[in-house]
Amino acid sequence: MDSLAAFAQQMLERAYAPYSRFRVGAAIEAEDGRRFGGCNIENRSYGTTICAERTALFSAVAAGARRFRRLALTTDAPLPMAPCGICRQALNEFAPDLDVISTGAAGGEQRWTLRELLPAAFDARLP
Ligand code: THU
Repeated sequence: MDSLAAFAQQMLERAYAPYSRFRVGAAIEAEDGRRFGGCNIENRSYGTTICAERTALFSAVAAGARRFRRLALTTDAPLPMAPCGICRQALNEFAPDLDVISTGAAGGEQRWTLRELLPAAFDARLP
């Protein structure tokens, strides 16, 4: 298994998902080689929940990384899952050329580019 995917798998163990019981782990690799992990973090006020992908991305940005190569994602579902729409938009802000690698609990793998996952992204350059 790719080591970035293995990192995402470790992060899945840190998921805080008592409400959905659906754990997600993510790991993002910056262009300078640094890697940052994330997991989903739920809340009893459900809308406060944050996805694993954005936890990883925001942790990376807070550490000073701005450009990224790859994101690995893994969940409790048997088949590989694609990131949700909000996470696609958040990732597009910093990494429109990102490669996304997803592994399922049953071991399968699927890959996409972020451009495939988010065609016609919102890209307004506001003043
Ligand atoms: N979730 C993620 O972490 N990433 C996604 O791309 C989709 C959904 C989380 C949010 C929530 O904690 C649980 O999965 C069920 O939706």
